[in-house]
Amino acid sequence: MSSLVIVGAQWGDEGKGKVVDLFAAHSDIVVRYQGGNNAGHTLVVANERTVVHLIPAGVLHPQTTCVIGNGVVIDPGVLCGEIDALQARGYLKKPEQLKIDERAHLILPVHRALDIAREERLGVDKIGTTGRGIGPTYENKVARSGLRVIDMLDPEYFRTRVARLLDERNVVLHELYGWPPVELDAVCDEYAVYAERLRPYVTDTALYLTEQIVAGRRVLFEGAHGTMLDIDHGTYPFVTSSNTVAGAVGTGAGVAPRYVNRVLGISKAYTTRVGGGPFPTELDDEVGRKLRQSGDEFGSTTGRPRRCGWFDAVVVRHAARLSGMAGLAITKLDVLSGIAKLRIAVAYEHAGTRYERVPAGVRTFEGARPVYEELDGWNDSLSEARRFEDLPAAARRYISRIEELTATPVTLISVGAERDETILLRDPFLL
Ligand code: GDP
Ligand code: IMO
Ligand code: MG
Repeated sequence: MSSLVIVGAQWGDEGKGKVVDLFAAHSDIVVRYQGGNNAGHTLVVANERTVVHLIPAGVLHPQTTCVIGNGVVIDPGVLCGEIDALQARGYLKKPEQLKIDERAHLILPVHRALDIAREERLGVDKIGTTGRGIGPTYENKVARSGLRVIDMLDPEYFRTRVARLLDERNVVLHELYGWPPVELDAVCDEYAVYAERLRPYVTDTALYLTEQIVAGRRVLFEGAHGTMLDIDHGTYPFVTSSNTVAGAVGTGAGVAPRYVNRVLGISKAYTTRVGGGPFPTELDDEVGRKLRQSGDEFGSTTGRPRRCGWFDAVVVRHAARLSGMAGLAITKLDVLSGIAKLRIAVAYEHAGTRYERVPAGVRTFEGARPVYEELDGWNDSLSEARRFEDLPAAARRYISRIEELTATPVTLISVGAERDETILLRDPFLL
């Protein structure tokens, strides 16, 4: 019985896609369990770049089954497009390779419209969402008025439920935001096509996953976003609308906690964030620009430039504790080459108080001044390193300091976007 959860330890884009693709070679099943196509996970193999938004990052391995769990919100048009694009490149040949949960909620056109309209109205106070309709879809789910994959397969029932939802949501969209209301007929016609296209993949994935785990299959749970974007534990309200911590596997994949026992956190060797909200170690200087340029820090989903800053040990410690991370994968260590002195935030100060933990209040966090520790940098390129010993002494010290400050062993170091540009220190399934 073996399962492993991959969780982002920062504000997303930590390199989860690369790590999931790497471990998928040794996994029978890869599962998305929360979020939606606000995620963008990049896989680079032999110079070929694939970005997946909804389909699990195990898809390049034909022997690996990909599961979209009940906790994911699915935009079926985007999903069909992603399946088409992958099939055109020779992937996902067999329908058995993809399973979509019947209980997963659907993103509707009205959700996308509300997401964008609301952000426009917020102006400078906006969250900086991806505009994919994620928040409004989870709102309807919790309000018990959402639509699920299973509902889409029953056109008559689908129509009555969409009509009821639009009755309410169109008022907000039209009266409050001045957008044209969404037409019921258009939605039903469009979604009827998706229903037939996706029907062969739809099943009870929670049942399937538990049976497979009990039968001894290796299952990899692919977290999306990052701990600091978690609806409960992140920088609320500048967060996404799902739980991103490892505990979300239980509800989002329908797999009991007893089957989920290993968690690997993913963190960049520095920090990035897309969208609004506090970011104490953000750098608006030459180093910040160097990180953005060398790290190619532009959003995989929206193409927005990512905000860049120093590694924040307070954030990663928070993430490690919340998800019980037994190990950390540190990605993009190569990007730090050529910076003479590196800094790591070890605590914050705000109004005379020292914080060793992430403050809950967004105003406190916004005003928090990082307490830095300085370490020597290195000039050597790291992309050829395949063993810990291949790294320069300063890079090894940097990694060891991260281990100490986060109280978590580093079990993988990534030194490039390619699958093989990796130093694996320990088998992740044996953490
Ligand atoms: P995810 O959302 O966590 O899967 O991360 P993204 O794919 O959105 O962003 C990570 C970016 O960094 C992608 O462009 C990856 O190809 C790239 N990447 C991952 N690991 C490394 C690494 O070790 N070094 C470098 N230079 N790039 C990396
Ligand atoms: P991956 O899985 C980085 C951010 C958005 C915004 C906030 C809310 O690729 O790491 P939403 O559209 O979810 O309502 O936006 O969350 N965000 C991400 N930032 N990586 C992601 O996913 C993100 N998913 C959401 O930028 O600030
Ligand atoms: Mg991403």
